[in-house]
Amino acid sequence: MSQRCRVVVLISGNGTNLQAIIDGCDDTLTTEVVGVISNKPDAYGLIRAHHSEIDTSCVIPYQQESRTEYDARLKAALDKYQPDLVVLAGFMRVLSDEFVNHYLGKMINIHPSLLPKYPGLHTHQRAIEANDAEHGASVHFVTPELDSGPVILQAKVPLYADDTAEVLAERVHEQEHAIYPLVVKWFGQGRLSMKQGKAYLDNSEIGPSGYAPD
Ligand code: GAR
Repeated sequence: MSQRCRVVVLISGNGTNLQAIIDGCDDTLTTEVVGVISNKPDAYGLIRAHHSEIDTSCVIPYQQESRTEYDARLKAALDKYQPDLVVLAGFMRVLSDEFVNHYLGKMINIHPSLLPKYPGLHTHQRAIEANDAEHGASVHFVTPELDSGPVILQAKVPLYADDTAEVLAERVHEQEHAIYPLVVKWFGQGRLSMKQGKAYLDNSEIGPSGYAPD
């Protein structure tokens, strides 16, 4: 990539991960957040984007609109920014296979669990109910099967006996803010890729639990 890597972030809510990515890109010459798209007009992340003078768009679903129709409008909004990387940061919609395949290898997501554990919703409560000793977050490439693409980086947190889902979510969130900007930076530096369903950093295959330095 000769120019800066153009990143578009998709959000639905608070946008604390968006903020961490904006802050993380601030000091890099390789990566720039050029747009933020929300499916919800009141997402606080849109205000965060305005504060950083980043262009925003809202693609609000119509009643009775099919997933394919919505995704076609989302794709049109996204492609205006000519993104090199699409970052899902708390974007709470399931995407159609067609959409995912269009951005294959160029779209990443953060999920609040140690994948492959707990794809889908209520991950913190499920970890508590399973009496897990540890929990965490995963950054992964997006593939058509929900929350199942190759993992790039994970962060683990301990789980304590008196944890509530809210307390645990906060502990995980803090780690998300550390790992997501790092992965975006790796992509911007051209170090990260996906080939045949596997993630690579510096041309070395990343293991199933994400990158782990020796
Ligand atoms: C994050 O915890 C992220 O892992 C989760 O939504 C939150 C968004 O927080 N994403 C998912 O659950 C996707 N399956 P934020 O808006 O403060 O970044």
